[in-house]
Amino acid sequence: MRVLFLSVFLVLAACGAPSDEVEAPAQTEILAKPITALPAPVKKPSLSPQANGKKFYKKCIACHLGDGAGVPGAFPSLNSGMDVLASTEEGRTYLVLVIYNGLRGTLETGNGTYRGTMVRQAGGKSPADVADVLNHILNDFYPDKDLQAFSAEEVKSINETHGRLRGDKVLALRPKVGGSKAGE
Ligand code: HEC
Repeated sequence: MRVLFLSVFLVLAACGAPSDEVEAPAQTEILAKPITALPAPVKKPSLSPQANGKKFYKKCIACHLGDGAGVPGAFPSLNSGMDVLASTEEGRTYLVLVIYNGLRGTLETGNGTYRGTMVRQAGGKSPADVADVLNHILNDFYPDKDLQAFSAEEVKSINETHGRLRGDKVLALRPKVGGSKAGE
């Protein structure tokens, strides 16, 4: 009987014994401390929309040339007709989608017919970048025209509404009126 009492006592004593769990909260506190000591990421100085558009346009120069004149029979000009396209909702949608998806098929413009392919140009670019390059074209090649600038919101919404398209589908969305110097 005495042995039984003793063992019951030992079991109870073991349960009540202080364990090192008591120390646990202090440790958790240390781990959960917010990390505030990391250095802020180094940001590149941001370019003005104008400088950013000019920089992005360097991608286009190989084909459409610095002044947007293009190469007759090979690459359509961007210094004629884009103002007409930028003046209607359909034309603006088309211009944004060309940058995001590329273009393929028989393109008839005011200064020639083109049967080429342009690959998408917007890889790694933000809607603001796409707006900047389109505004670069409008401002630099049509300085005398009072054209509505593209905004990042407009570009984003057009791109999201249409999603990814094949180049020939983009061509099918081109308004027949635009791109023609003769039609102005
Ligand atoms: C490797 C050559 C190449 C590059 C680089 C290129 N394009 Fe093109 N682009 C073309 C070709 C080719 C077409 C015509 C495609 C066709 O015939 O269907 C075209 C068509 C276009 C059109 C449609 C013109 C119209 O009258 O409908 C626009 C707008 C355009 N490009 C803008 C750009 C912009 C902006 C860039 C740079 C971000 C760019 N392109 C880069 C080759 C290129």
